[in-house]
Amino acid sequence: MQKIIWILLVLKLSFKVLAISDFFLKEPNNVIKERTFVDPKFAAPFSNLTVAVSRDAILTCKVHDLYQYKIAFLKVDSQTILTIQNHVITKNHRISITNTEKKIWQLKIRDVKITDRGWYMCQINTDPMKSQMSYLNVVVPPDIVDSQTSNDVIVQEFENVTLSCKATGLPEPTIVWKREQDLKSANVENRESYSFIGSVLKIPFITRHQAGIYLCIASNGIPPSVSKRLKVVVNFKPKIFAEHRTVTASIGQKVTLECSSVSFPNSVNYWMRANDDLTTKDYVLGGSYETTIDSDGTYVMKMKLNVNINGPTEFGKYKCIAKNAIGYSEETIQILPSKTTDNSHSFQPTSFVTTYFITFKNESIHNAEDDVIDKRYSIATVYLSKSSAIAFPSLIFLFLLIIIVFAI
Ligand SMILES: *[C@@H]1O[C@H](CO)[C@@H](O)[C@H](O)[C@H]1NC(C)=O
Ligand SMILES: *[C@@H]1O[C@H](CO)[C@@H](O)[C@H](O)[C@H]1NC(C)=O
Ligand SMILES: *[C@@H]1O[C@H](CO)[C@@H](O)[C@H](O)[C@H]1NC(C)=O
Repeated sequence: MQKIIWILLVLKLSFKVLAISDFFLKEPNNVIKERTFVDPKFAAPFSNLTVAVSRDAILTCKVHDLYQYKIAFLKVDSQTILTIQNHVITKNHRISITNTEKKIWQLKIRDVKITDRGWYMCQINTDPMKSQMSYLNVVVPPDIVDSQTSNDVIVQEFENVTLSCKATGLPEPTIVWKREQDLKSANVENRESYSFIGSVLKIPFITRHQAGIYLCIASNGIPPSVSKRLKVVVNFKPKIFAEHRTVTASIGQKVTLECSSVSFPNSVNYWMRANDDLTTKDYVLGGSYETTIDSDGTYVMKMKLNVNINGPTEFGKYKCIAKNAIGYSEETIQILPSKTTDNSHSFQPTSFVTTYFITFKNESIHNAEDDVIDKRYSIATVYLSKSSAIAFPSLIFLFLLIIIVFAI
């Protein structure tokens, strides 16, 4: 019984040897004779390879003295044999194999997928086998995920703004935020910054100066980088101001009232009379309105109104008003009659125009005895300049004046 088993075993072994010999018999006879003397070697390192997704990858394995030995390519992670010699074993149609004089073996993977990433082995079936490993790195250029990225925003000034940007890619992309113009004034998170790294950009209490075009740029070293433009609109209520809040004029003169406002969106500006005895419907028609857009993109409106002082009714308060969807702002300018029509008598010697003037209060005292109106002037107020050089002659002048008055 044992004998039979032995015979069977020997037979089985010889069949196996025969099968292998059959395989090798396809090679020229002289090769077999040299079999024991050959020692195939790798001629070059099987270097790593980085390929962008959907491109082709070529893994090159260089050997010499291969003779009857065979070259196989394997995917290490999944333990699959891809090719043996010129035969593609795997069912993956994207894989092909070529060789140049059995020295340069090239495994080609068409239309590379992310799943092709990993270690590959080039193996010679010596005993023990010889092998080399190579890492195929598959990279993906960045792409912005629109559904998870902010769109244009319209906010009111001093609101908190959060902009987010999501991008895919291999390796994972870095997100950089920039402002299209004048990066310096984009004061992000209370610091002057030219750019911000991170997928979420927070702008607390946004100001009008931070409005503009923001760019979210995704890059991972694999060209091309991609970016998305976001428009940040900051609305704010108008602010109006007048350089001169009072102007003086006399009847027959013409005065120009001026106001200017800043706003976003653009404001509607107009003039109104604002005296207490007038109703709010007293619009003043006319005037000129000039709009410009400043570097921040905000609207600047300059408004002017010419007023002809034809009579006393033209004096009084005028309001300039700027209004937009967010709010309202007004300023009041007063037209006062010039001092010349005043009841008190102003004495203003031309030589000392800016240095002082004396006001005499008209005190008419009735003299009962001789029923004569005695005109006496008393000095009510003396304004002197700070300059004593001018003040001294002024005092002499004043003194003389008093003497003259009393002499009369
Ligand atoms: C090949 O790639 C692997 C994995 O990224 C890395 O560990 C190895 O150092 C690389 N080898 C060479 C020679 O660059
Ligand atoms: C805006 O953010 C600040 C902190 O950055 C917070 O204190 C404030 O409550 C926020 N305002 C609103 C309206 O969310
Ligand atoms: C002073 O007052 C009297 C009566 O109140 C008036 O008649 C006279 O013209 C006044 N004089 C001046 C200089 O204003």
